[in-house]
Amino acid sequence: MLYTGTHSHSEIGRYLTESGRQEWNELILGISEDGRPPIPGTPRDLLLRMIAARFESSSVVKAPVECKPPWMTERAGTLLLEEARQSRTRAVRGLGNWKVQGGRIAQAICLSPTLHEWVQRELALDLQPKAHSAYLFNDSEGDGSEIHLDKAEGFEVNILVKLEHILSDTGARSTTFTYSGKGAAFHDLEVGEALIFCGPATLHGRTEVRPGERITLLSIGFCQSPPE
Ligand SMILES: [Fe+2]
Repeated sequence: MLYTGTHSHSEIGRYLTESGRQEWNELILGISEDGRPPIPGTPRDLLLRMIAARFESSSVVKAPVECKPPWMTERAGTLLLEEARQSRTRAVRGLGNWKVQGGRIAQAICLSPTLHEWVQRELALDLQPKAHSAYLFNDSEGDGSEIHLDKAEGFEVNILVKLEHILSDTGARSTTFTYSGKGAAFHDLEVGEALIFCGPATLHGRTEVRPGERITLLSIGFCQSPPE
């Protein structure tokens, strides 16, 4: 059984139950190329595209959006990066990265009316903020995450803002990738740019971090209903 409940999207609204998600993630990982996007046009790619298309219909964001948030000024970027660096030692291991709750500056942005107005305009969605932000660090060799769907209990819409990207000696760049019915998309953001996507309904991951490479992101989570 891939799903519990009578509806194919399970009993947590439009998304999979946790057991359904785990089962799909195992399957998706098995089809992928060691957790990364397969070569376009191969059977693995075609199969993953079919699966991705099946989940796209549940996404509250039509397609992943790359943008440059107007509130992400140079000053904001400097303050956020400083706060992120100060909190690095408290970060705990996440899915192929290191994660720590956002501090005073991140939370202030997360709860600001400016951010909410911008998101609603950008996505044409009435999103309520869950008062949550986090700093994500991909700064150890081998960091990066295998292709997966996020937990439905988390956030429906994720905004990942790039605060810093120090390249490896070879100049290789680890990137966030998403998979849709059209195939893989690699989101090679510049500092100050953001990626918005629906984590529980979009296959996604990050390509491997190379020696010496360091990426710092601010993650802001939104949901469609008010937090309980
Ligand atoms: Fe994720």
